[in-house]
Amino acid sequence: MNLNTIVTSDNIEYLKTLPDGCIDLVVTSPPYDGLRDYNGYSLNLHGLGEQLFRVLKDGGMCVMVIQDSTKDFAKTLTSFRTIVDWCDNIGFRLFECNIYHRQGTEGAWWKKRFRVDHEYMPIFLKGKRPNYFDKEPIKIPSKHGGKVMTGANIRTKNGRTGSRKVKINPTKCPGTVMSFGNTCGGESKLKSKHPAVFPNMLAYDMIECFCPPDGVVLDPFNGSGTTTLAAKCLGRNYIGIDVSEEYNAIAKERMLTETIYRKKEDVPATINPLSLLLSDHQDLQHSETQE
Ligand SMILES: C[S@@+](CC[C@H](N)C(=O)[O-])C[C@H]1O[C@@H](n2cnc3c(N)ncnc32)[C@H](O)[C@@H]1O
Repeated sequence: MNLNTIVTSDNIEYLKTLPDGCIDLVVTSPPYDGLRDYNGYSLNLHGLGEQLFRVLKDGGMCVMVIQDSTKDFAKTLTSFRTIVDWCDNIGFRLFECNIYHRQGTEGAWWKKRFRVDHEYMPIFLKGKRPNYFDKEPIKIPSKHGGKVMTGANIRTKNGRTGSRKVKINPTKCPGTVMSFGNTCGGESKLKSKHPAVFPNMLAYDMIECFCPPDGVVLDPFNGSGTTTLAAKCLGRNYIGIDVSEEYNAIAKERMLTETIYRKKEDVPATINPLSLLLSDHQDLQHSETQE
C-alpha cells in the first residue's frame, strides 16, 4: 500500500485496491446534492461507506462534514439518510453528531430563510470503542479560566453542605458544537482556488484527537488537500484521493509550500502571522441552493 500519497481516481475504485483494516481515521467532506459538478462524477455514498468500513481498522473512526441543500423550501435530508444508512446497513455506529459552527452568509434567499451557519459532523465508529481518543490538544479556553470561584457546593462528612474555593482550569473539554475560526478558503491563496473547502483546523483537531501518532489518515474527497496537509503537519501518514487532476495539483502544491500552526506562538518569526489569517470571504460549498 502506498502511503503519503495523493491519488487521482474515483474514490471507490481506488479504495477497492487497499487491504482490509489499514486506515485509522477518515476525515472527509463529500460534495452533496449535486450542488457542484465535479466533472460529472456521480456520488455513491452507500458504496463509499462500504469501502470505508472495510479499510478502517477495528476501532477506527470516520469524521464527515455534510449539509443538505434546500429544494422547494425543504431540506433534502441527504445527511440524515447517509447517517442512518451507514449505521443500519453498513455496520458503522454513530459516536457523535457534532455541529460545525461556521460563519454562514446571507444570500439571495435571505428574506425567506434563516442564515445557515452550521454543518453536521457525524463521527462514525467501526467496532466497539475508539482505538484512540486524545482530547487534550484540542481543549478550548475556559471563559473564566484562572479565576477563583467561591461557593462551589461540597458536602462535609457529617452531611452538612458548605462551600469552598475552586480555581477554574484555563482550558476545558470541547463541546459538540465546534468552531474553527472564521477563515476557510481565505487561509491560503492556493486553497481558495478550490470552491468547497473546510477549515484547516477542523482536520487538524480531528486528526490529533482520533489518529494515533503513527497512524494513517484517509480523505477520499481530498479536494485542496486540507486533510492530507494537516496529517503531514502532525506527523501522521496520509492518503488523499480526488477525482480531479486540477484539485490534486492544488493539494500537491499546498503539501510542499504550506504548514498549519495551532497557535500564533508556533509560527516562525520569518512568517507574518497575519498572512495566515486572511479574510473569511470563502466558505463556498457550504452555501445553500437558492430557492
Ligand atoms: C467538498 S470537496 C472537498 C474539499 C476538501 N475538504 C478541502 O478542504 O479542500 C469534494 C471533493 O470531492 C471530489 N470528488 C467528487 N466525486 C469524487 C469521486 N467519486 N471520487 C473522488 N473524489 C471525488 C471533488 O473533485 C472535490 O474536490
